[in-house]
Amino acid sequence: MPIVAPSLLAADFLHLQDECTMLNESEADWFHLDVMDGVFVPNISFGLPVIEQIRTTTQKTCDVHLMIVQPERYAEAFKKAGADMLTVHIEACTHLHRNVQQIKSLGMQAGVSLNPHTPVDSLKDILHDIDMVLLMSVNPGFGGQSFILHTLQKIKELRRMIDNQGLNTKIEIDGGITLNNAASIVRAGADVLVAGSTVFKSADPKATIRALKHIV
Ligand code: DX5
Ligand code: ZN
Repeated sequence: MPIVAPSLLAADFLHLQDECTMLNESEADWFHLDVMDGVFVPNISFGLPVIEQIRTTTQKTCDVHLMIVQPERYAEAFKKAGADMLTVHIEACTHLHRNVQQIKSLGMQAGVSLNPHTPVDSLKDILHDIDMVLLMSVNPGFGGQSFILHTLQKIKELRRMIDNQGLNTKIEIDGGITLNNAASIVRAGADVLVAGSTVFKSADPKATIRALKHIV
């Protein structure tokens, strides 16, 4: 069964408490929290104070996806705000190895994210150091975009790399996941499904989460 991580980017921010309660009562495993700086991506979302408050509503894993430049400036602050996992973009880190060590030394799990154009090969010398790879299946910055089909090849290739090295690094897929494509994503080798619009814009979010959880 995949780990299901609804992205609160698509939540109703005027009723955030209700959305958190819904997730807590659902089969969702993680809260996926998208932080954007308007520099690394052409959009700005929410940041530390919002995550700090969401943290008080849940015991579930807070999976923070940083779409920001120089993420090392804020790793400690996100730990304090309650992040359990912190994912940074390979394209935003000149000293990725140092950034990963920093995240781990702060007591969080470390994830590395790849934009659609970045080959999975580029993880070769960092894969054994990280807890998760987040493959972007859309260009980061916005919810509600269409899944880039080529991602399925990348998942398979990454699955092979991880298995060949005997690692248990998780593969998380983010962007454009629907009830129609989720099964093929899991079959290709994904461990974690992020879903924003599919969950929060559905008539029955809890049922949609359940459907994603039992998709294969
Ligand atoms: C996009 C974010 C995603 C986004 C996914 O930059 O990283 O987590 O919320 O939204 P959907 O599931 O609507 O594509
Ligand atoms: Zn995300």
